[in-house]
Amino acid sequence: MTSIKDRTAFITGGASGIGLALAEVFAGAGASVVIADVEALALERAELHLQAQGASVLALQLDVTDRAAFAAAREAAIERFGAVHLLFNNAGVNVPGPLDQVSYDDWDWVMGVNLGGVVNGVTTFLPELIRHGDGAHIVNTASVGGLVGMRGLGIYNASKFGVVGLSEALRADMMTHGVGVSVLCPGVVATALTTSERNRPAALGGDAGSQASTTDQPSEQTSEQADAAPAAGMSPLSLALLVLEAVEADQFFISSHPEFRSLVAQRNDAVIASFGGSADPDAVAAMSALIEPF
Ligand SMILES: NC(=O)c1ccc[n+]([C@@H]2O[C@H](COP(=O)([O-])OP(=O)(O)OC[C@H]3O[C@@H](n4cnc5c(N)ncnc54)[C@H](O)[C@@H]3O)[C@@H](O)[C@H]2O)c1
Repeated sequence: MTSIKDRTAFITGGASGIGLALAEVFAGAGASVVIADVEALALERAELHLQAQGASVLALQLDVTDRAAFAAAREAAIERFGAVHLLFNNAGVNVPGPLDQVSYDDWDWVMGVNLGGVVNGVTTFLPELIRHGDGAHIVNTASVGGLVGMRGLGIYNASKFGVVGLSEALRADMMTHGVGVSVLCPGVVATALTTSERNRPAALGGDAGSQASTTDQPSEQTSEQADAAPAAGMSPLSLALLVLEAVEADQFFISSHPEFRSLVAQRNDAVIASFGGSADPDAVAAMSALIEPF
């Protein structure tokens, strides 16, 4: 998508961190922005922050695991801005821990938000992105943890590998529809991700006293936790500027942290080296037809 001006961007997890930075940068490039997030107080703050910068913004409370609410959010965005051109499936959470020490609730929460949320965003918005014929682009936020597995990050890895695979297939499927696709694979970014338990629903083992999708009013603890986020890592705004360039250039992989290059290369080399024997040329031709070259 070469021009962002006068487009509409719908951003999940838009109330903080990378999502809020994406809203800021794409609004600065002339887009109207819809920020959708489960965390009500952070959403209000983000809306005021963006309005103070002159952005045209709609803030919607949305739990990305709630499909009916996602459809209602899409309709609200279309009603306000006429069409949606850019979709950022960015909401995400993390429960670190070795796989012998995590629970089914941990799995269900992280997979539900990180992978299920992207599935829901794509399924909810594809008809709209294709419908208007004005060109569209989807950015799915994965992670460098979607390219290489890491000790103590098994659930997160499973969810983010899923986002990368889904995005590769989506790119191939959407080539003839004028819908570009990118997958964002950052390393460490200075955000509130380390306090993502603040958004964990009680039904999946969250603290009933903190924010969950079933409550309308987040506790003060929520924003205090988010404010206490570590400052290590790349700034979300620097990352969002890279995303803007990548969307304008229709670039698929957005890998912002070159310090992970050799680790990913090592993994990819191991995959390539593990293929033994000789290939059936007919099978190669059949498989190649399903894959869009990068
Ligand atoms: N921070 C990093 O180092 C890093 C690195 C790689 C990838 N990521 C990914 O970036 C994305 C954004 O995370 P961040 O780092 O900005 O963290 P963050 O916690 O600052 O932002 C995540 C946002 O998602 C929202 N959210 C959580 N659950 C939700 C739900 N069920 N429905 C709707 N919104 C929900 C949160 O309220 C929050 O506003 C995530 O997908 C994360 O996995 C982050």
